[in-house]
Amino acid sequence: MPDNRPIGIFDSGIGGLTIARSVSELMPDEQILFFGDTAHLPYGDKSAEAIKSYVKRIAEFFVDNDCKLILLACNSASAAAYPMLQKLHSGKVPVLNVIDPNVEYVCRKKYNTVGIIGTKATITSRAYNRKFATAAPDLIVKSIATPLLAPMIEEGFFNNNISQTVVNSYLSNKKLSGIEALVLACTHYPLIKPEIEKYFATLHTKVEVIDSTDVISEYTRKQLNIHRMLADKDRVPEHLFCVSDFTASFQKTTNIFYGEAVKLKHVPIWG
Ligand code: DGL
Repeated sequence: MPDNRPIGIFDSGIGGLTIARSVSELMPDEQILFFGDTAHLPYGDKSAEAIKSYVKRIAEFFVDNDCKLILLACNSASAAAYPMLQKLHSGKVPVLNVIDPNVEYVCRKKYNTVGIIGTKATITSRAYNRKFATAAPDLIVKSIATPLLAPMIEEGFFNNNISQTVVNSYLSNKKLSGIEALVLACTHYPLIKPEIEKYFATLHTKVEVIDSTDVISEYTRKQLNIHRMLADKDRVPEHLFCVSDFTASFQKTTNIFYGEAVKLKHVPIWG
C-alpha cells in the first residue's frame, strides 16, 4: 500500500531547505512538511538540553500533522536530540538523523583520515567520533568547530571574497592536516562547497568534500522503502514550508537554500 502522508523535515532555520530540495528532486512524488525553528536559530551555540526541548516539541508538530517519517535535517539537532527522539517515538514514527548517512558514506569509501567541520554543538557533542569509533575503529577523525560559517551563510555571504577568507582561515587549522575527505556536518555548508573546494585546489591537495545532501536524501529513500512507506507514483504533492518566527529576510533567502523561492508559513508553536 503506498503511503501518501508527508515527510517531516526539520532544521534550526532554513538551511535545511538544502535537504528538502534534494529529497524532492530524488522523490518527486513525496510530500514534504518542512519546519524551520527560526525562533531559536542558531542551534549551534545552544546547550544540548535546550536543543532537546525544541526538537521534542517540533516532533509533536510533525506527529500532529500525520507525518509518516521525521528527518532531522540538522546536524546540531541530530547530535543533541536524536537518541532521545528515537526512543520517544519508537514503534510510532521512524526518526532519521543526518549523522548516520554521512558515517555510512565515509565508511564505504574506506578512508584512513577524515575531517569534520560543523557547529560548536555538533563538534563538542562528539557524536560523529562515537559513531566512527564503532563503525570504523581505525579511522582517524579530525574535527573542528566552525561557528561563523552558518550565520555567515544565513546573511548571504557566500561565493565572495569574505566567505573565501573565512573558509581559508578555518581550513588552514593544523588540526585538519592530512585529511582525505571533509564532511560538511552542517546543512548550511553546501552553499560554500565551492569555496572549500577552491581552498584545497589552491593547495593542490586532493580532498573529497562531502556536502551530504544527496547522501541524506538517498538514505531517506532507502528508509522509506524499508518501512514500506513510499508514496504513489506520478502525483504532484503540495509541499508546506513552516517557520516558528517569520521575517522578510528569512522569506527572501529561501531561494538561496531551496533553489527557488518558496512561501514560508508562520506557525508560532512557541506561543
Ligand atoms: N543547520 C544546522 C546544522 O546542520 C546549523 C545551523 C545552526 O547553528 O542552527 O547543524
